Amino acid sequence: MIVVGAGRVGTALQRQAQGSGLELTLIDRHRGWEALDAPQGDPVLLAVRNDDLTEVIGRIPSHRRSDLVFLQNGAIRELLAEHALAGSTRGLLYLMVSSRTAPLVSGGTSWLCGPHALAVVRLLGALSVPAEAVDWARFSYYELEKLLWLAAHGLLCEALDATVDRIAAAHVDALTQLVVELAAVGRAAWGVQPDPAFLVQRMLDYSASIPGYRASVKEWPWRNGWLVAAAQRYGVATPHHTALLVQTGHLPRPAIG
Ligand SMILES: NC(=O)c1ccc[n+]([C@@H]2O[C@H](COP(=O)([O-])OP(=O)(O)OC[C@H]3O[C@@H](n4cnc5c(N)ncnc54)[C@H](OP(=O)(O)O)[C@@H]3O)[C@@H](O)[C@H]2O)c1
Repeated sequence: MIVVGAGRVGTALQRQAQGSGLELTLIDRHRGWEALDAPQGDPVLLAVRNDDLTEVIGRIPSHRRSDLVFLQNGAIRELLAEHALAGSTRGLLYLMVSSRTAPLVSGGTSWLCGPHALAVVRLLGALSVPAEAVDWARFSYYELEKLLWLAAHGLLCEALDATVDRIAAAHVDALTQLVVELAAVGRAAWGVQPDPAFLVQRMLDYSASIPGYRASVKEWPWRNGWLVAAAQRYGVATPHHTALLVQTGHLPRPAIG
């Protein structure tokens, strides 16, 4: 297995591989790129942040582009389409690695979709990361679920000064209100129509699996900022999202008068 990005996820996967006696080539900014000279065929997992994707894609030899596996959270569909990579393998990791030295904490099944999905599921399984391959429709649901989990919990953790498990325990109504509102944006943009009760319950279960985690509003263009822009583009009203973004200082207060 090849992984590009020696950050939290990349190094955690490398540690798991070492512990399992599996071969994993970790490529960082400066080292390891010659591994991509090998013939096409083996998956190349991209464990870099969304903002770094364009640069990394530019460094991938053309014969390995079809091997790329995008592990990013957030709304990356437009970026992939811009690079003619919309049909790539994608993964949504339901796990947490809080630092480069922290252990990988699994938060349930991770989901893979695309040409290398089954191969990556096997690789992750060998590293004790539970994963399943799903079709595009099901992946789209999880893509929206993860985006909304991040966007809603980032905002609520800031607004309520709480951890994600505290929100799951004490602020379910506020979470539901926000998630249902934002799901309408996902429906308009991606055609995903989640059942609200199912969606919220899965979010609560995930939050309970990573106690102590305090989310925040970050990766603006890929998460809350994308939702703001998409809501405007599709004419979806998101008053709670907007009010919380103003309250937490991520959007300016509207001028009065
Ligand atoms: N951490 C988690 O718990 C978690 C969970 C699920 C999904 N994810 C997703 O996984 C992805 C990676 O997350 P992370 O937490 O591992 O991020 P991270 O700790 O910031 O690591 C990203 C790594 O990418 C490297 N990088 C950036 N540009 C590069 C380039 N041009 N060539 C080679 N390497 C480059 C960075 O190198 P430098 O160190 O030199 O800057 C850094 O080591 C993100 O999209 C995130 O959404 C993370």
